[in-house]
Amino acid sequence: MTNEMTRTNMDFLNGRRLRRSRQFGWSRNMVRETTLQPSDLIWPLFIIEGTNTREAVKSMPGVDRLSIDLAVAAAKEAHALGIPALALFPNTPADRRSNKGEESFNPDNLMCRALSAIKQAVPDIGLIADVALDPYTSHGHDGLMDGDRILNDETVEVLIKQSLNQVRAGADIIAPSDMMDGRIGAIREGLDAEGFQDTILLSYSAKFASAFYGPFRDAVGSGSRLKGDKKTYQLEPYNREEAMREVEQDILEAADWVMVKPGMPYLDIVREIKSRFEVPVFAYQVSGEYAQIVFAGQAGAIDQRAAMIESLIAFKRAGCSGILTYFALEMAKLLNE
Ligand code: PBG
Repeated sequence: MTNEMTRTNMDFLNGRRLRRSRQFGWSRNMVRETTLQPSDLIWPLFIIEGTNTREAVKSMPGVDRLSIDLAVAAAKEAHALGIPALALFPNTPADRRSNKGEESFNPDNLMCRALSAIKQAVPDIGLIADVALDPYTSHGHDGLMDGDRILNDETVEVLIKQSLNQVRAGADIIAPSDMMDGRIGAIREGLDAEGFQDTILLSYSAKFASAFYGPFRDAVGSGSRLKGDKKTYQLEPYNREEAMREVEQDILEAADWVMVKPGMPYLDIVREIKSRFEVPVFAYQVSGEYAQIVFAGQAGAIDQRAAMIESLIAFKRAGCSGILTYFALEMAKLLNE
């Protein structure tokens, strides 16, 4: 009876056995569909004033804010490990923040000094400069405000000035993360008019209003200032079609690459962009995603290293050309072993 049952089931398989290729390490390697390499990793760095200064970000164990000299050393290390690009974020001193964020276009601001120091010391690493006003405004919003209202077009004018300022200091890639309407086309035009036709535009196209940005806002010092939320400019997590319209619009406005942010909870968005548009897609594994994995690891709930690797593979499997991740250095070290 048992034998007969077994035989019947085997007949049903018709010779097909999906586990056949999973038997050995070498056979699994032969049929891998996804690869993860140091060149897939982009490392975000938080910059502070000072020399030889490093400040831990408490909500992100293992992540420090670095003074420019230490950021230069970190850039050298990243480059040696095969990381192709860094994304820089300044923690602007309080007395340099203002209602209108004028510090964003000061050619001697912390961000510009960091860009030029790293560009000079490590010319072959790509430098990504975020464009948005939140590290510079006293209210922590990404745009100019009139009362509670974000002023879209006035903000775009300032973002053009911020972009030019950062490109002149050494940024290779301008990454607008502000979500104002029309900013990609306007920044492209502004850069072209000043002779920067070759600067790559990486648009944070599908950027959602997310609880996962909390630790980042600690790191750049905007969180405690922020009143309300960013829902009048960032996307609601409910919407997929609206994200596709944002991506389409940015491509029409000449974005070279697009980004999805946060990452892991939004891999459906990555996949859909890949199937609808022919454009390189990046994703940002944001601060709260990093914190989730690290704190769960510290609590002994998961294996931190295995979860890190698995999460990064998931981005590649979804179709990402690369991942902005606070794990970049650790992962690149592992891959170099
Ligand atoms: C600012 C910006 C944010 C992040 C990158 N650029 C935060 C926000 O929009 O409030 C978040 C990155 C992270 O959480 O790691 N425009």
